[in-house]
Amino acid sequence: MDHFAEKLIHGRTHISPKRLGDPGPSESQKESILLAASAAPDHGRKVPWHFIEIQESSRASLGDVFYQCLLERDQSATTIQLQEARDKALRGPLLFIAIANYHDTSDQISKQEKLISLGCAIQNIILSAYAYGYGSGLSSGRALESIYIRNLFQLSDHEDPICFITIGTVLKNKPDRIRPGLSEYHSIF
Ligand SMILES: Cc1cc2nc3c(=O)[nH]c(=O)nc-3n(C[C@H](O)[C@H](O)[C@H](O)COP(=O)(O)O)c2cc1C
Repeated sequence: MDHFAEKLIHGRTHISPKRLGDPGPSESQKESILLAASAAPDHGRKVPWHFIEIQESSRASLGDVFYQCLLERDQSATTIQLQEARDKALRGPLLFIAIANYHDTSDQISKQEKLISLGCAIQNIILSAYAYGYGSGLSSGRALESIYIRNLFQLSDHEDPICFITIGTVLKNKPDRIRPGLSEYHSIF
């Protein structure tokens, strides 16, 4: 694995947001990490994605949403569990929410294609962050399906929140996971 691209692609692993700390990317690094998204394949050039950065002063509002969602889902949630839900919003120095923007659904490009484009943009972002020496983690969760998230980020009907992207310095890492073998996803016709 001498090739730079191979090292980059195979070296990146998911890092749990709780294991991502300071420092986060500088302003110029952040800009180039975000610009990596713009190189994603994008059929019809719809730019069917949007990344909202959740700055420090907004983390508490996101925490309120996580708290509220857990409470609605599980009325027996303990005070500790509710506090943990809140604290999730505070993890990591750089936090984005990745939004799929389907635009006008009557156009020629399907929703699936737009979602794939978002996936490629996310991969470009996390590989770029890794190239700068930062770890990253993607996280989803039931809160993303809630009206509270939609309201918080003022999403329109043609937008869907897909996942969070946390970027920061790796504080602790787990051993590499075993990746699927070629035979699991390749065949010849
Ligand atoms: C859209 C999306 C959402 C994800 N959400 C979570 C999550 O909520 N929690 C989690 O532990 N990992 C989440 N992951 C990360 C995967 O678990 C991780 O990529 C997978 O285990 C493969 O590991 P690797 O990224 O190190 O190759 C998510 C990945 C994607 C693509």
